[in-house]
Amino acid sequence: MTYEPAAFADLKGRTVAVTGAARGIGEAHVLALVRNGVNVLAGDLDESAVGATAERLGEQCRHGATIVPMSMDVTRAKDHHALAERAFQRFGTLDGWINNAGVYGLNGVLETSGAEFTRMHEVHVLGASFGVQAAVPAMGASGGAIVNVASIAAYVVRARSGAYSASKAAVEHLTKFQAVELGPRGIRVNAVAPGMIDTGMLSSLTGEPGMPQSAVEAVPLRRIGTPGEVSDTVLFLLSDASRFVTGHTLVVDGGGRHR
Ligand SMILES: NC(=O)c1ccc[n+]([C@@H]2O[C@H](COP(=O)([O-])OP(=O)(O)OC[C@H]3O[C@@H](n4cnc5c(N)ncnc54)[C@H](O)[C@@H]3O)[C@@H](O)[C@H]2O)c1
Repeated sequence: MTYEPAAFADLKGRTVAVTGAARGIGEAHVLALVRNGVNVLAGDLDESAVGATAERLGEQCRHGATIVPMSMDVTRAKDHHALAERAFQRFGTLDGWINNAGVYGLNGVLETSGAEFTRMHEVHVLGASFGVQAAVPAMGASGGAIVNVASIAAYVVRARSGAYSASKAAVEHLTKFQAVELGPRGIRVNAVAPGMIDTGMLSSLTGEPGMPQSAVEAVPLRRIGTPGEVSDTVLFLLSDASRFVTGHTLVVDGGGRHR
């Protein structure tokens, strides 16, 4: 992954947990954080892939930052708590949390099975809920910042995306409740809603990298986004530059929702 992350000096020395960190947008979050001197707890269902990602990105660490890879399933509360506890044991602090792990699947409203529907909601909605429940006690009195990864699918209706879109709309809505209840503790909770981003999740739809030209031309900026463009936005939401921003979902879609 070649990408020059944005710089936020205040992040240096902090500790942030990232779920779904093995590849795609999650991998970009890890790179963006360690280049800013942030210690990262990198959690993913795919244990060997997240270990390899941590190893590969090790040489990108700046200002003494460290990456700790961990096997986790975001649908299990105890895995989130293990991630938070590890952060505290290893670095003595937890300042940020990114609920990024995701799964995708296309199916019509009449064909979607209960298992598919449940999986989307467990990974995205329950995952974001468990993540916050584990992060808050570990953040303690010093507060912190949490970012949920929603999707443009929360706003734009496309056939055969009902289960995914409903779960991402729920994440966007849940973010507001988390922000309202945690604001008095000094914890900000925001979300990002990426549009089409060039990752394995997107290419699983078309069977090849990128998107058809017609889809690209419907985006005002005339291209799909890169994982790093989502991560730069997440860095902003984690940093003190957004210290009066909470309960907000920042859309990162090249303007695609306005077509
Ligand atoms: N790529 C896009 O165009 C796009 C657009 C909008 C939103 N998003 C969202 O961005 C996030 C990252 O997407 P991506 O494109 O990088 O996907 P990706 O498929 O490339 O990576 C997702 C990662 O999440 C991990 N994961 C899946 N289920 C998990 C679980 N139960 N526990 C822990 N880890 C798990 C996977 O192993 C994988 O490493 C997702 O939440 C996705 O819904 C992506």
